[in-house]
Amino acid sequence: MSILSFPERGQGGDSTYRGNCSPKVYEWLVQETRARSLLDPVMGGGTSLDVALRLGLKASGSDLSTSPYHQRLKARLERQGARVELGVDATRTDLAALFGQHDLVVAHPAYGTQIVYGSGEGDMSQLGDGDAFLDALQAMTLNMREATTDGGYYVVIIGDTRKQGRYHSYQGPLLGMLPASELRAVRIKAQHNVSSAKQDYGRVRFGLTLHEYVLILQKELPFFQAFGEVVKAQQARLTGTWKAIVRQALTQLGGRADLDTLYDHVFRSAPDRVKQNPNFKAKVRQTLQLLPECQPEERGIWRLAAA
Ligand SMILES: C[S@@+](CC[C@H](N)C(=O)[O-])C[C@H]1O[C@@H](n2cnc3c(N)ncnc32)[C@H](O)[C@@H]1O
Repeated sequence: MSILSFPERGQGGDSTYRGNCSPKVYEWLVQETRARSLLDPVMGGGTSLDVALRLGLKASGSDLSTSPYHQRLKARLERQGARVELGVDATRTDLAALFGQHDLVVAHPAYGTQIVYGSGEGDMSQLGDGDAFLDALQAMTLNMREATTDGGYYVVIIGDTRKQGRYHSYQGPLLGMLPASELRAVRIKAQHNVSSAKQDYGRVRFGLTLHEYVLILQKELPFFQAFGEVVKAQQARLTGTWKAIVRQALTQLGGRADLDTLYDHVFRSAPDRVKQNPNFKAKVRQTLQLLPECQPEERGIWRLAAA
């Protein structure tokens, strides 16, 4: 199933909790992963824990909020056999030390600025749309990874937002900050019964955003290898591919440059890439040959061909 669409919400959780998720999504995840234990560090209205308890899994969960609502929810879930901790910042607390490891660690974090939870210091719904939020999202996911058993799954459910005409997508940047070889699937989850969809937005170009992504990763690499992949992925994101670097250098140099000037520009603009390739000058020359839009003008001088 590549698109998860459950018009009937299903059984469990609290349909009035802002940003709640359909229990059927968690049922599907438990079924596909064959998990026997579930941890949700941003449990909100407790949907995932209700599903885990109903299906006979060991269920653990936490939330940053310590509100009376969450105190009551904790009491109910604990009576039913779950373990719940409140006032836990999923981006900073060592979840593995607090809860031990689980086969399925799943989070549906707050994102964007449309719903503000006001859950306390570290509330992800108050970090905005930029780097502070992405850093917190990465920290939470890597923290979840540590609380996952070897061979188990860590899953993030997250959507996109649009604010003042600007579209923010978080799943792409997040995947670029995680161990790429642990990615097992990305599924689209259709959103039903979204309160904003009931308001009259007039004619929104490209329509409303009524989906989220389910990012499914499996923990299998040793710690240092996983973090090595994360570092490499982040470096690649910062510096781009060789084609992108060379194309950008020539553009920034006004569309025409001699090789020495190009080497110098690349050396300064992509130091991480240069460090990885001591013979980077040969790499620049090879890349120039591969780019159809770059043409030799005379010996040692290259230019961007007009379109
Ligand atoms: C989208 S809701 C989760 C909804 C849940 N999936 C459900 O079905 O009810 C996100 C939750 O993250 C919590 N939260 C925000 N920042 C957090 C943080 N840094 N650590 C832990 N929980 C956080 C909020 O209090 C909120 O309850």
